[in-house]
Amino acid sequence: MKDGISGKLIYRKNYTDYPWNVDHLEIYFDIGSENTTVRAEMEFLLKDTTKTSQDIVLNGVDLQLLSLSLNGDLLSSADYAVEGETLTIPNAPASSVIKTEVRIHPANNSALEGLYLSGTFLLTQCEAQGFRKITWFPDRPDVMTTYRVTLEADKSEFPILLSNGNQKGSGDLAGGRHWVCWEDPFPKPSYLFALVAGDLALLEDHFTTRSGRDVVLRIYVEAENLDRCEHAMESLINAMRWDEERFNLEYDLDIYHIVATNDFNMGAMENKSLNIFNSKYVLARPDTATDADYQGIEGVIGHEYFHNWTGNRVTCRDWFELTLKEGLTVFRDEEFSADMQSRAVKRIRVIRDLRSRQFPEDDGPMSHPIRPDHYVEINNFYTATVYQKGATIIRMYHTLLGEAGFQKGMKLYFERHDGQAVTCDDFLAAMADANDVNLDRFGRWYSQSGTPQVHISDHYDAATQEYTLTLEQTTPATHDQKNKQALVIPFAVGLLAADGRELPLQLKTGQDAVKGTRLLLMEEKHQEYTFINIPELPVPSLFRDYSAPVKIFYPYTPEQLATLITHDSDAFVKWDAAQRMAQSAILEQCQRHAKGLAMRLDESLLKAFRGILSDRSADPALLAEAMNLPDEDYLAEQMEVVDVDGIHAARRFIKEGLASELKVLFAERYAELNDGQPYRKSSRAMARRALKNVCLSYLLDTETGESLGAAQLKSSDNMTDTLAAIQGLVLIDSALAGTALSDFESEWRADPLVMDKWFIMQAIKPGLGTLNKVRELMQHEAFSIQNPNKVRSLLGVFSMLNPTGFHAADGSGYAFHADRVIELDGLNPQMAARMASAFNRWKRYDEDRKALMKTQLQRIAAVKNLSGDVSEIVNNALR
Ligand code: BES
Ligand code: ZN
Repeated sequence: MKDGISGKLIYRKNYTDYPWNVDHLEIYFDIGSENTTVRAEMEFLLKDTTKTSQDIVLNGVDLQLLSLSLNGDLLSSADYAVEGETLTIPNAPASSVIKTEVRIHPANNSALEGLYLSGTFLLTQCEAQGFRKITWFPDRPDVMTTYRVTLEADKSEFPILLSNGNQKGSGDLAGGRHWVCWEDPFPKPSYLFALVAGDLALLEDHFTTRSGRDVVLRIYVEAENLDRCEHAMESLINAMRWDEERFNLEYDLDIYHIVATNDFNMGAMENKSLNIFNSKYVLARPDTATDADYQGIEGVIGHEYFHNWTGNRVTCRDWFELTLKEGLTVFRDEEFSADMQSRAVKRIRVIRDLRSRQFPEDDGPMSHPIRPDHYVEINNFYTATVYQKGATIIRMYHTLLGEAGFQKGMKLYFERHDGQAVTCDDFLAAMADANDVNLDRFGRWYSQSGTPQVHISDHYDAATQEYTLTLEQTTPATHDQKNKQALVIPFAVGLLAADGRELPLQLKTGQDAVKGTRLLLMEEKHQEYTFINIPELPVPSLFRDYSAPVKIFYPYTPEQLATLITHDSDAFVKWDAAQRMAQSAILEQCQRHAKGLAMRLDESLLKAFRGILSDRSADPALLAEAMNLPDEDYLAEQMEVVDVDGIHAARRFIKEGLASELKVLFAERYAELNDGQPYRKSSRAMARRALKNVCLSYLLDTETGESLGAAQLKSSDNMTDTLAAIQGLVLIDSALAGTALSDFESEWRADPLVMDKWFIMQAIKPGLGTLNKVRELMQHEAFSIQNPNKVRSLLGVFSMLNPTGFHAADGSGYAFHADRVIELDGLNPQMAARMASAFNRWKRYDEDRKALMKTQLQRIAAVKNLSGDVSEIVNNALR
């Protein structure tokens, strides 16, 4: 039985060291889709040399045990105990060689964890606890072992046989079979083990590391995808070079493999030298992938590559420490993308994502610190909190210590811990010691959940020319934690004169005047900062570059926001000012809508948009971000009780109003950007497409929109423009949408990744008709509930990105979705749990919807043999 099924909470404080060293694992696979036989041999050496014997505890799930021996003696079932996920050999001698033989059934594995089948090839996914579905082993990250893997299979069915490390030998066998042997010289935890067996094509390239090591790079894909690997390869090479230049980290083996699969629960996996990727993050051609896809590929390829040092060479002591590798590696991939593309644009997208996904999580039933204290199912803790908030905590070290200080800390971290399984405390200690600073208080960010709020007020004294900012921090109680402490909050601030000039900042408490941004450190609940020689009432530019992951409260006037939008030097502050203005306009109309009053468009927003649209000097991608209105979910978070229909109506009203008032400017800018140049992949070209398509999305709400959309669709030579046009036509309910969708379908019906986009365009359409559409699409030949990408595209999008559809007042969306969660749970509990979290915010809605959602949660909770994965999510939600 799984830990989760028994619903058992596992606590961080209960960590105990594994009593044995397992230095080496010899593992042999006789591979077949229906049956695979696994033979393993490992030597257990007792760490405590004063003892002569100790129990050996191994983990295993769904393994058919064929034989088990200890130091050469076959054990009978009386010699060991199997209970739940563990097998215990009592009182094993201090030096024990264990041999096991098990059988597993990859073709029946629909959970996509362990060894499973994708199309015609077999592959593994072991993080977090999938290795125990392959063989009996101490499946925990602090047991680090070298592996020698021998794979044997039918040569025509499985011509390619891959595992971690270097190839050590291969040969043919009787009966059309063959074998390949792989050896990984670096000790690793079992979660980084991987194997792939099948008929795959490859793209090969090379990278020479700084010290002159020649590394062979291979990307393996199904043969028909071979012409879509170039961008991934280029991204990999860029990532390898970047990590040398920025972090002084070099690759450590002669080989680096990436395998793409259509069947993957996550984005990608960093198995040592054998990364396995969701094909979404590998395959791209201009006609099949959007600019966002290209950027996603670059980021994820970078992310998994960067894990080689932050994750693999230094790994986590236990799964509570997950953010040690994930938060840090997300920070590294963000920096990589920022260095490769536009830093400001990347930063804004990261912040948008944090606020719209992590903030609600931190305020909901799954609230947890970036280092959780307990879990039922670890797979439920690969969260926006551990990842995205975790990365912002790493970014704060960087802000506090500077690039040089941060790199000193990284260097010490690797000097101390290379080859070890460590904790977030070890990381903090390395940063503190390398810089000779005390970071103890900063460490509270690891243990406190919830989003801090910083309330700011100011006072200007014209007589003394002093300006005082008063900051008050509070973190509201969360579902998991009542009492909150003050946190260390880096506060980057600037002051603007009314004409937009940056004022020199000089604190009353000393220090020289600095022009531009001043980094202050808030350490107490309440703090005041007084600046001197301030000639006029300034506009405060707060939390520049979003220097801390907090909710910022300051009563900006529309004039102040306008000053920031036009003049501030900081891209985040500019963007945030535009978002604030849009947000208050929308929320105000939402209130009017609720009171039955006519909605109206405010002049200040119009003026700001006019300015943005006329800006010919700023990066077009930044302008696009500024004009992307806050999404409905983010707006919902700002309301006491979510008014689903009101938010939708108000946002539409504002968008249509802006479109109609500014149609001349939108059309002008659109025409400029729609220059008929052939597709290019450069970041400049992507930025221009981003702004062009934002303009189109507004223009679609005007009389000329439909024909512009149709023309763009007709002339498009890339997926970004094609999708923007079709999605636009669908959203305005154009008569042309039907044909556009069906043409798209006939062109791409055999292409799973492009069909995902086709499902998304339909599932996202607001309104009550979409549920039936989704039901109908589930019957489409390209849909399969067994495929995570399809589930995300259709069911994930409908439940999480289509508020008016999902929250239909009659509860039909809820009932439908609950049925899907239940159906999925029998197939793929991890995916089912992710889908179940669509109900997490149920308490934030009106009484009727609350009751309807609660009923569905209870219905799910009552399902017999519900997985621990889903049970943890729904029971938390109900609690
Ligand atoms: N280690 C994870 C992948 C993973 C986690 C696989 C849990 C299976 C279970 C990997 O490094 C990762 O973090 N992938 C992210 C993408 C990344 C760019 C944030 C993912 O898969 O979403
Ligand atoms: Zn990762």
